Amino acid sequence: MTQSPPDESPLWIAPWSIDEGQDRARALFSDAFEGEPDAIVSAPGRLTIVGDHTDYSEGLTLATITAHRTFVAVRRREDQALRAVTAQGDQVRGPGPRWEGALDALEPSDEGWPSRVAGVVWALEERGYPVTGLDLAIDSCLPPTSGLGSSAALTCAVARAADAAWGLALDTEAGAVELAEACWAAENVYVGFPCGRLDTHTVMRCADDEAVLLDFAEKPPVLTRYPLYFPDYGLRLLLIDTGARTEGWRESYGRRSRDAALAAATLGVRSLRALADSPDALARVRAIADPTVHRRARHIVTEDQRVRETVAELGGLGPAHDRFTEIGALMLTSHRSLRSDFGASTPELDLAVEASVEAGALGARLAGAGFGGCAVALVRAAQIDAVTARVDAVFDTYAIPRPRYLLV
Ligand code: GLA
Repeated sequence: MTQSPPDESPLWIAPWSIDEGQDRARALFSDAFEGEPDAIVSAPGRLTIVGDHTDYSEGLTLATITAHRTFVAVRRREDQALRAVTAQGDQVRGPGPRWEGALDALEPSDEGWPSRVAGVVWALEERGYPVTGLDLAIDSCLPPTSGLGSSAALTCAVARAADAAWGLALDTEAGAVELAEACWAAENVYVGFPCGRLDTHTVMRCADDEAVLLDFAEKPPVLTRYPLYFPDYGLRLLLIDTGARTEGWRESYGRRSRDAALAAATLGVRSLRALADSPDALARVRAIADPTVHRRARHIVTEDQRVRETVAELGGLGPAHDRFTEIGALMLTSHRSLRSDFGASTPELDLAVEASVEAGALGARLAGAGFGGCAVALVRAAQIDAVTARVDAVFDTYAIPRPRYLLV
């Protein structure tokens, strides 16, 4: 394969500063509704470092947040009306840039982005909070459908907006858990997409410059914080948005979560996590006769173990370089498991991962649900240009549209 770098420079998606995001949301609000919002809030995307497709098996994930955020300008209304506009109306599923609803007409449904907005209001009302109408203006620099939890960024930003507009005072640690659970219900119950708790709990509870270990054996998940000090050691997490999205990925996700439940039932355990905690976990998984269910279970059980090992390296006392090399190796093994055992990769993701590592990344993996979207590579800052050049060249060789890059 020839790998001469293409002429053009890499395509970067820069994050907006908080000021820029707020200005955009305010301008959109004034255009759509006239006057000023009561508050402008935001929420980031979710980036898995290691631990995908473990949350719905009561497993473990190590995750962080993106610098790219979704902004919402909000004003409380005294009537029942819910009005929302989004600047991404042509990029996300739904009726376009505008939606109007009413508090007394909220019915679980999946109409795209407006159902996430409505679902959050519905979930907060279900949880007993006094709700009123809202005007909301939404703008985002987080690329949608890229495996970075853009739905959770939207629901969490709307939840923060509602919290501010209604004066619920949930901008506390406990309040973040409460809002994360409401957003999970908005997605699972109102929209009806059966996902785990990873996205909303990371988005609502992880701070800048930290990674969170989430333990989904408890509900709500127990969270442990770790400083994410990669930049202090000259390393960055480079996101490679392949732009690809597999048709029917929601069905594929649903099938895998059913396979995980089936594996647990076959082995007579409450969840695969219960198995992962036992020393003979892999031997027991081998007893699953169905080869697909066996491989799905093997991914989940070994992924939980990789999360434990990654956390041990992140919090470890050994030489930094050795620990980062080991974390990179764990990321790569995670990718191979997601590809071969879990069937969650795509050719574009595999190329992005392989090319990054060939060009010097310490490790790389698909980031999130998979089936398209982003890969994440752990890269020395000095090698970012070499990695983007190699990935661009490889994509060019296969006539795949060039990916876009984001830094964490
Ligand atoms: C999606 C889901 C999460 C999680 C990840 C895979 O982002 O929303 O609950 O299952 O996929 O780790």
